[in-house]
Amino acid sequence: MSSPVLQKTSSLIVDSIAKQGYAVIEQFLSREAIQALAKQAKDLQSTGEMHQATTGIAKIETLSIRGDFIRWIEATQASDAEQVYLAAMSDLQLAINQAFFLGLFELESHFAIYPAGAGYQKHLDQFIGKEERKVSCILYLNDHWKSESGGQLRMYLDKKDESNFIDINPQGGTLVVFLSSDFLHEVLPAKSERISVTGWFRTRGTSV
Ligand code: OGA
Ligand code: MN
Repeated sequence: MSSPVLQKTSSLIVDSIAKQGYAVIEQFLSREAIQALAKQAKDLQSTGEMHQATTGIAKIETLSIRGDFIRWIEATQASDAEQVYLAAMSDLQLAINQAFFLGLFELESHFAIYPAGAGYQKHLDQFIGKEERKVSCILYLNDHWKSESGGQLRMYLDKKDESNFIDINPQGGTLVVFLSSDFLHEVLPAKSERISVTGWFRTRGTSV
């Protein structure tokens, strides 16, 4: 059963997507929930369960595109912290489905850790001919992030105008949601480790 707070947050996100295609929400989850997720990501890293992210192309090229380490979240084996995240995302999915009829019926999500100096070059989360990812959601897990540390998510608001972008700090609790097909984005290199959970609401198969 979802809480009134989450329902209100979900409807704010839906309104913002309807208006501008994306939403940025602070304090999406409680501080304790964010800290528990951050701890899990760090634990996974120290036990060697995070692995270098891939892009479907050669490893050496991938490293110049993105430098993060990831670990997928398995709903059937979710920790308490992951269950809190998944429950909130499922409320959001319901709200988005009701508003937009996108037919989103599953969430794929992973933890990501960018070591200091790593980033992710400008990209779209949808690939041509593979459009299952409909809505991208990034939840940041970094306590007291400082702008000087870099690591911002740079979102390009106009595919034809490179100078039209916003930079979002990966501050713990901030959730960014956007239509995957519409926004080019990149992760600016950070001076310190940067932790997040990235999720995509997707349809199954190759039909659009
Ligand atoms: C991604 C991505 C952005 C971020 O994982 O595809 O673009 O701010 N992440 O972590
Ligand atoms: Mn992306």
